[in-house]
Amino acid sequence: MHATAPVIPQRHDAARPWWHASPAVCAIFYPYLLKGFHANVNAGMALPALLLALSMAIPLIGFVVAWKLGRLAHPNDAQITAKRLAWLAVAAPPIYTAAGVLLYMAGDPVADTTLWLGIWIVLAAAGVRSTVRKQSSTPAAAQAPSPRLRVWHGISALAIILLFLAMHMTNHLAGLLGEAQHRQLMDIFRTIYRAHLVEPLIVALFLFQVVSGLAMVRAHSTRPADFFRSLQLASGAYLVFFILAHMNSVFFYARRFAGIETDWDFATGAPAGLIHDAWNIRLVPHYYFGVFLALSHLVLGARVVALAHGARRERADRWSAAGIAASALAALLIMLGMCGVHLPI
Ligand code: HEM
Repeated sequence: MHATAPVIPQRHDAARPWWHASPAVCAIFYPYLLKGFHANVNAGMALPALLLALSMAIPLIGFVVAWKLGRLAHPNDAQITAKRLAWLAVAAPPIYTAAGVLLYMAGDPVADTTLWLGIWIVLAAAGVRSTVRKQSSTPAAAQAPSPRLRVWHGISALAIILLFLAMHMTNHLAGLLGEAQHRQLMDIFRTIYRAHLVEPLIVALFLFQVVSGLAMVRAHSTRPADFFRSLQLASGAYLVFFILAHMNSVFFYARRFAGIETDWDFATGAPAGLIHDAWNIRLVPHYYFGVFLALSHLVLGARVVALAHGARRERADRWSAAGIAASALAALLIMLGMCGVHLPI
């Protein structure tokens, strides 16, 4: 079930420091691009759109670098480190959101941008150093993810979809119809996913996904991966941070620390909204990629299961591509609804 895409020979991988460190270097600019967006949000369409697009390109750059490195049949330690750094850059949106929430809860001892700058300069330097020092090292031993863990990860994902995620996504899609529709549906769904025994189970399942997912991403970092596997790994890395950040925001920040209702107003950063608030703008890439990558991750998990059960690769890839496109569209519709666009029905 491992990736069987053609792999490029080792010599084509630039064991180049700039290439290996580029996702971490780009990630340094993430909060500044969002700040630029906020400063120019009323200055026409083009500049703010460009700045938001550039901020959202940072996870994409991380993905492309990890994907290219994933084409190596036998990566060495430096290349494995670079791949892991690239995945961290993919997760820049939830890492930045979590940093902002945690620092706020701690009384803002330091600005989130200062912390961000420090973290990513260190990570970029580590990427360069690792490449320079281990450039000529021999390929690392490939690790195999535990087959049992893979099966339980899949079963747990199915339980999450049935108990919570299908409702959660439908609920957010309903926001496109209007706030009232979103609230009505949430009131119904909450009777299920907030039920006495169900809610702790959902939390436990998500935490299991994080731990088992991390173990699998770690093992896969030593192996080659085709495009689809690369997206599965990158989305998994994003979700590790997204799930922890999101659950911290809902359970600890909102419900315990601030004592606020985790409803439509909370999700959309009311009254200022997501677009016109200097802090809230970070939630746009955070949520967009959260939905897009969570749905894509499920599509890609289904692809692995289908291939293991004898599905033809071209067919599985075609369906996966369609599923990924549908995930991107669903994320866009949800974000439009949350940013105030409502269908006139
Ligand atoms: C647009 C994207 C999203 C927004 C705006 C959002 C917002 C929210 C809100 C407002 C709640 C509180 C619900 C309540 O009080 O009933 C919540 C809970 C939660 N969300 Fe999300 N969410 C999003 C995407 C996701 C995704 C993609 C995942 C999973 C990968 C996720 C996982 C969770 C979990 C585990 C909870 C806690 C559920 C509970 O109360 O038991 N969310 N989210």
